[in-house]
Amino acid sequence: MRIDHVAIAVNNLDDAVKEYQAALGIHEVEFETVETEGVRVAILHLDNSRIELMEATKETSPIKKFLATKGEGLHHIALETDGIDGEVNRMKECGIKFLGDVRPGSRGTKITFIHPKSLHGVLAELCSHPQ
Ligand code: CO
Repeated sequence: MRIDHVAIAVNNLDDAVKEYQAALGIHEVEFETVETEGVRVAILHLDNSRIELMEATKETSPIKKFLATKGEGLHHIALETDGIDGEVNRMKECGIKFLGDVRPGSRGTKITFIHPKSLHGVLAELCSHPQ
């Protein structure tokens, strides 16, 4: 496994992108909207990983709820594995709880989320990229 990305919830994506770009000295940014999850994402590429800044696109977005209760900040870390289904089965045998089944993410990825209660308060995405 490796850390695929770290996701941060923000109130205003365009403002946050400018500040992160300045702080990290990164020029290139990709934007992506994942309507099924109710988020617009800015992707900042690091040498070995990515930072994803996320804002809500609708009132029912989980990010909207997160921002309302916790405010801006770290939302989840994403762990990449080559075989997500096998990894989920292995983890379930260890008693790890998941938020939803394995489902399509953006760009052909497969994703699911590990319940924060199983990881001492950290929400983790598990993802596999297309082979
Ligand atoms: Co993510």
